[in-house]
Amino acid sequence: MKYTVSQLVKYDCKTMKIDDIIEQLGGAAAVQTLLGVGPSAVSNYRLRGAFPEYARVRIWQALKARGVHVNPETLTDLHDQPPSGESNSASNPNPLNQTAIGQSNARHPDTPQILLIISGGIAAYKALELIRRMKDKGWAVRVILTKGGSQFITPLSVSALSGDKTYTDLFSLTDEAEMGHIRLARDADLVIIAPASANMMARISHGMADDLASTAVLATGAPILIAPAMNPFMWANPATKANTAVLKSRGIAFIGPDSGDMACGEDGAGRLAEPMAIIAEAEKMLPGKGQLQGKRVLVTSGPTHEPIDGVRYIANKSSGKQGHAIAAALAREGAKVTLVSGPVTEPPPASVQVVAVTTAQDMLDASLAAMPADIAICAAAVADWSVDGAGASKLKKTDGAPPQLNFKENPDILATISSHQQRPQLVIGFAAETDDVIAYAKAKRARKGCDWILANDVGQDQPVFGADENEVHLITASGASHWPRMSKHDVAKSLTDAIIKELTHG
Ligand code: CTP
Repeated sequence: MKYTVSQLVKYDCKTMKIDDIIEQLGGAAAVQTLLGVGPSAVSNYRLRGAFPEYARVRIWQALKARGVHVNPETLTDLHDQPPSGESNSASNPNPLNQTAIGQSNARHPDTPQILLIISGGIAAYKALELIRRMKDKGWAVRVILTKGGSQFITPLSVSALSGDKTYTDLFSLTDEAEMGHIRLARDADLVIIAPASANMMARISHGMADDLASTAVLATGAPILIAPAMNPFMWANPATKANTAVLKSRGIAFIGPDSGDMACGEDGAGRLAEPMAIIAEAEKMLPGKGQLQGKRVLVTSGPTHEPIDGVRYIANKSSGKQGHAIAAALAREGAKVTLVSGPVTEPPPASVQVVAVTTAQDMLDASLAAMPADIAICAAAVADWSVDGAGASKLKKTDGAPPQLNFKENPDILATISSHQQRPQLVIGFAAETDDVIAYAKAKRARKGCDWILANDVGQDQPVFGADENEVHLITASGASHWPRMSKHDVAKSLTDAIIKELTHG
């Protein structure tokens, strides 16, 4: 027979009293610090004779660190026998992964903790299926239901499937005592927003924190996956497009929307991605699950600025959008990414170590400091020349001729890495060309000694610098393939997929 949660909690109290646990942990003040709660919360736990379920893993870890070995799911002594007629937890290693209301969502330390945010829209009903499927996978699921979402599904139906309470209110005293909004955000291994309404995306792209969902998104350090669902015109609106671009540039992943018949009677892109597709994407984003786990990657991005004097410099039009998107896409696959970036206004991608540099020489130094790496991708638009003898003083106008600038050639970072003693397994460069794109790119690949080149046409009628889209050719030893015009984030995703394929299948 399996435990029910009420039996576990009762058994818990019988065998190891809450006061004993608090004492083992160093007293009430220590427990407050451990759980990030105030004195009243600890008094409430004492009165109830139990800790809230979310706190169990943390308590189990703290007890373990003090040499007290208990069952993480029940906080009972592992050597104690369960009440007669009931099986022990070994025959039911994850007894709390049940999905009936009132049953617990407490988790084993290896169980992924998902924070699902359900916002308004008819697709909210599909989120119920998503919760079921995630529970089938053994994931622990906490749900925030927004005000809009609760117009379509009820907290009761969500709780019935998640096995946990449904969080709705930023200013709930009870919730704050047990599970502050910050903890809700920080405990998550992954945040999924499904369905994400146009309004939800607009609010989080602006960093708003006026309800529990937006506050949790702002406070989380976990990766975020957005599954949008809305009317096709709303999805195609430039405002939604701009918000999507901002969110992507911050390293937030998207799945969907799919195309097809909509509940509103229209047809087009706006349907929520299928629950199993959302889960497949989410799975890749869980800590320790990406396909580039353990790989070290160096990415250069943005322009360099080469000083002329103390106040002037030579720059170029690179925005860093492509390089930053590549760094974000690789990090989402679990790679340990160092992004050496020239001066850009792009926000630093999530989970990426950014080293900010100014000149080509700085960029080379920082890149070499990031070696050894398994993969290097040089996406920066490095200045070919710098001004010889540029000083700190401002050059003054004189009555005579304008000053003569003497240039010296900058180091070539891509070529240096390609011929380095600790050469990465895969070295990838870019080629910005105005004519004969493929022929010049092939020659550049050979000249610089890299493995692949992503070549793009930067001619006058081809907006690339600063644009959100890119059209490239991938040049490898075996030839060239054309990637049609797509967003720079999609180029980054395609490149990441190609890298994974190369490293896996050679
Ligand atoms: N690159 C580099 N260091 C430099 C110049 C370029 O690492 N000093 C890298 C870029 O990051 C890119 C590739 O080399 O991956 C090609 O850059 P591109 O500007 O197209 O080529 P150039 O080397 O400037 O060659 P050319 O002027 O002949 O086009």
